Amino acid sequence: MKLTNQQQQILAGGQGPFLAKCLGWLVDWGDAMGARRLVPVSNTHALVTVPGNLVYGAGEKPLQAAMELLTSACQHRVRCLSTSHITFAHEDQYEEIELPPEQVAAQQQVERMARDAGFLMTYTCAPYLVGNVPVKGEICAWTESSAVVYANSILGARTTRHGTESAIAAALLGWVPEFGVLLDENRRAALQVDVTAELHTPTDWGALGYFTGKAAGLDVPVLAGAPQPSQEDAKQLCAALASGGGVTMCHIAAVTPEAPTLEDALGGRPPTRCITFGQEKLRSTYAELRTHTGQQIDTVILGCPHASLAEIAEIAAGLRGKRLAEGVKLWVCTAYSTRAVAQRLGYATMISQAGGYLFCDSCPTNSMRVKAKRIVTAGFKQAHYARGMISAEVIVDSLAGCLKAALTGRWSEDQ
Ligand code: F3S
Repeated sequence: MKLTNQQQQILAGGQGPFLAKCLGWLVDWGDAMGARRLVPVSNTHALVTVPGNLVYGAGEKPLQAAMELLTSACQHRVRCLSTSHITFAHEDQYEEIELPPEQVAAQQQVERMARDAGFLMTYTCAPYLVGNVPVKGEICAWTESSAVVYANSILGARTTRHGTESAIAAALLGWVPEFGVLLDENRRAALQVDVTAELHTPTDWGALGYFTGKAAGLDVPVLAGAPQPSQEDAKQLCAALASGGGVTMCHIAAVTPEAPTLEDALGGRPPTRCITFGQEKLRSTYAELRTHTGQQIDTVILGCPHASLAEIAEIAAGLRGKRLAEGVKLWVCTAYSTRAVAQRLGYATMISQAGGYLFCDSCPTNSMRVKAKRIVTAGFKQAHYARGMISAEVIVDSLAGCLKAALTGRWSEDQ
């Protein structure tokens, strides 16, 4: 990769060992991916906290390495708008999830340092819901695969899938290696998915995303014939695209900013493959993530990716004046800023009076503090990961279906 004089000077340690290390990561990554240069980045979304899966899932060494990385990184200042991914849990919920005291101290220390380094501590997997909304063509460096697909496909911004180190390096240096979907030629669609199924709910869009993600692998798909999605539809689509496969961006013809037509999405070439998502595929995609062996359920998880205010309002309306079935736990995951509005408007009270729980700044899979045997969720991504990370049976259904299960304690296909 060709570096400028300034970049060479940083790489040689001219601005200290940590920034030299950061630049080294970006150069090595860029070299491996065939990048020719580093380009300016103006927006990052980085994991600058210690989420539960690192504490409970990875063991002591990765946790120590993460603490060292964050401590070094936070001695510097960010160079562009930088928001933060999820954390373990919001501080007023430590007790509820029984966070060990030593973890509380580490968590608070890291979060204070990150704030002082200039990171905007949004604590969410859906930064586009809480004010980080890059514009068309803006170069970003985002972690969180669902948000990456959303940024590329719905907003028309440009970001590859970042990990913790690369997003932090980008935030502190203001550059990213130029490869993948940062370049026009890699944003053209190759796989055409003709959508003939009727999509009635955001979870139906999740099914479309899960099916397409699995079929696409690393290709860029284009959805032809799909209706205009709502923000919640797009959120489910993008999360499922990223968990069903390794998709970084997807075009929706006439929706994605750079794809006013199907031909534009394909870049004037014919697709390399063409498949159809019809009613039967919609049904079989749901069936794939319904691994239950009985009807009784104990846990309902909503807000994956983090719930929007509109979703919280819908949940509150569905629960108002009712009670969850005995023994059922309902988690509604969201960012604390969204929860603050939900509290102001009374939605949070309606949910808690019914026995539900508005869980902030994380989610059960990532905090790894949920014990469940059979989960119902409206998110294909949550179901995909809950199987392994919570070792629970899963059922995916629409938000209405999830609420019904929460109120009755049972789920069946014909409910
Ligand atoms: Fe967010 Fe957790 Fe889903 S981090 S995308 S709610 S798995």
